[in-house]
Amino acid sequence: MNAIDPIHAEAQGIRLSGVTKSYDAKAVTIPPMDIEMRAGEFTVILGPSGCGKSTLLQMIAGLERVTGGTISIGGREVQDLEPKERGLAMVFQNYALYPHMTVAQNIGYSLRVAGIQRAERDARVKAVARMLGLADFLHRKPGQLSGGQRQRVAIGRAIIREPGVLLFDEPLSNLDAQLRQDMRLELAELHHRIGATSIFVTHDQVEAMTLADRILILNKGRVEQFDTPKTIYSRPASIFVAKFIGAPPMNILPVSGDGRALRFGNGKVFAASPLKGEFLLGIRPESIVLDRHGPIRAQLRHREDLGSHMILTAAFDLVDLRIALPFGSAEPQQSDLHLHFPRECLHLFDVEGRRIEADFHLEYAN
Ligand SMILES: Nc1ncnc2c1ncn2[C@@H]1O[C@H](COP(=O)(O)OP(=O)(O)OP(=O)(O)O)[C@@H](O)[C@H]1O
Ligand SMILES: [Mg+2]
Repeated sequence: MNAIDPIHAEAQGIRLSGVTKSYDAKAVTIPPMDIEMRAGEFTVILGPSGCGKSTLLQMIAGLERVTGGTISIGGREVQDLEPKERGLAMVFQNYALYPHMTVAQNIGYSLRVAGIQRAERDARVKAVARMLGLADFLHRKPGQLSGGQRQRVAIGRAIIREPGVLLFDEPLSNLDAQLRQDMRLELAELHHRIGATSIFVTHDQVEAMTLADRILILNKGRVEQFDTPKTIYSRPASIFVAKFIGAPPMNILPVSGDGRALRFGNGKVFAASPLKGEFLLGIRPESIVLDRHGPIRAQLRHREDLGSHMILTAAFDLVDLRIALPFGSAEPQQSDLHLHFPRECLHLFDVEGRRIEADFHLEYAN
């Protein structure tokens, strides 16, 4: 396939250099940002509401101007180009379909504009509609569809030309859980097939973990971490990231070091370490081991059975620890719990919440 094929473009790399955005003089929405997405890479942007996800996507799309910096797509600077000159397609939070056109016409619109023959157009529209579960609605108008069906038409319209770059802003947010799951698989297959460089904004961490080659975690417009789902989960760069990925979120316990040992707030030693000062220790609920001989004692306060696993809440050293037990594991019979924190599952952060790699080995003492 070559770049001028009207219905399939090669994936393009995207580079942002010093890109900033201020909607007004008083506030900076995106402080200078340098990031690069490789050609064909699937990036998921994750972050709390208002952190700048849509702003970032709209600057790449050309719907918002950058306040400073450059954006290049396939090596070509695009920040001053119109959206249609950037070689990308998008599905946004507030997608607008053409109300007077049928579903088939909406999906096939860009092919018609590109002058693709009717027979080919119809075949492609049918194939896309089948994939999106819209085959029975091709003759309806958008006003006769549910929100979720309309959202799928918007996706169909964006993907039909198989562009080199695809931008999605929460494209699955109007769908029910089952449809969302189905669409997630369809999108993963679609990406596999057309291989466009894709940027996908979502609030859903399952979507992020399953779709992304890399996840970009934004906090107030800044990049907290940009890495593979595996690394984001196993080596979060900050407490912010650690608490954003994983449900329930990572447990965070204050600890202090005197140069020889790290102690919990209750004064009990849990590790030998040369660290001095205050730190925060992290452990995921699923990493805590219930162990009759475990050195850490906690008081069970609550249990929630979620079917596939059980979440225990237990009081330990001024905090409530969350412990996740997989289905079928032995449940505690009494409220006095004995726990073990495996060394390889412990994360250490400074008081600002930044990850630190520190040497310490477990040495519990009561
Ligand atoms: N057109 C605008 N004019 C002024 N401020 C804006 C504009 N659009 C967004 N903002 C502000 O910029 C910040 C980032 O908004 P943005 O829409 O990018 O967030 P988001 O991460 O997409 O949030 P959500 O998850 O709620 O969609 C917010 O504080 C928002 O109020
Ligand atoms: Mg948004």
